[in-house]
Amino acid sequence: MKHHINFKVNGDEYSLAVDPWKTLNELLREDLNLTGTKLGCGTGDCGACTVMVDDATVSSCLTLAVSVDGKSVTTVEGLAPSGETLHPIQEAFIKTGAIQCGFCTSGMEMSALHLLNQNPSPSEMEIRKSLSGNLCRCTGYNQIVEAISVAAETMRENEPKEEQR
Ligand code: FES
Ligand code: FES
Repeated sequence: MKHHINFKVNGDEYSLAVDPWKTLNELLREDLNLTGTKLGCGTGDCGACTVMVDDATVSSCLTLAVSVDGKSVTTVEGLAPSGETLHPIQEAFIKTGAIQCGFCTSGMEMSALHLLNQNPSPSEMEIRKSLSGNLCRCTGYNQIVEAISVAAETMRENEPKEEQR
């Protein structure tokens, strides 16, 4: 029997009936056509399917769609909602050459978003730790770490400054 769920993805509200065994990854890719979120291993090991549910990152391949009832999901498409201006994280990945085949990129960027939301000035070690659940089969880790460091700097510069008294 299908379950009715209400949830948001990238700010848009959805109300859908879903099978109890459907994963969040299937819901996003197959039902909502949000194919920026990838499916790699399907077993929680590679991080290619990483999205945010409320303030936490999850592996969408291991998350049941019914569990996002009442929650807010952010996918890589939500980083650049207008489709015209890229998010500083995406700009930094391009600038530093952190994308090779691109299969890991959306998962890496969602992990980066989660890190930078929590910690605007991460050290290199903190960046590397935050990517411990994301594998890059092209092994471009150094550029990915550099990209996140560059994105952090840009995001700090873009923060509205407190007015000086
Ligand atoms: S596809 Fe989900 S962790 Fe690999
Ligand atoms: S760029 Fe190819 S898997 Fe990371």
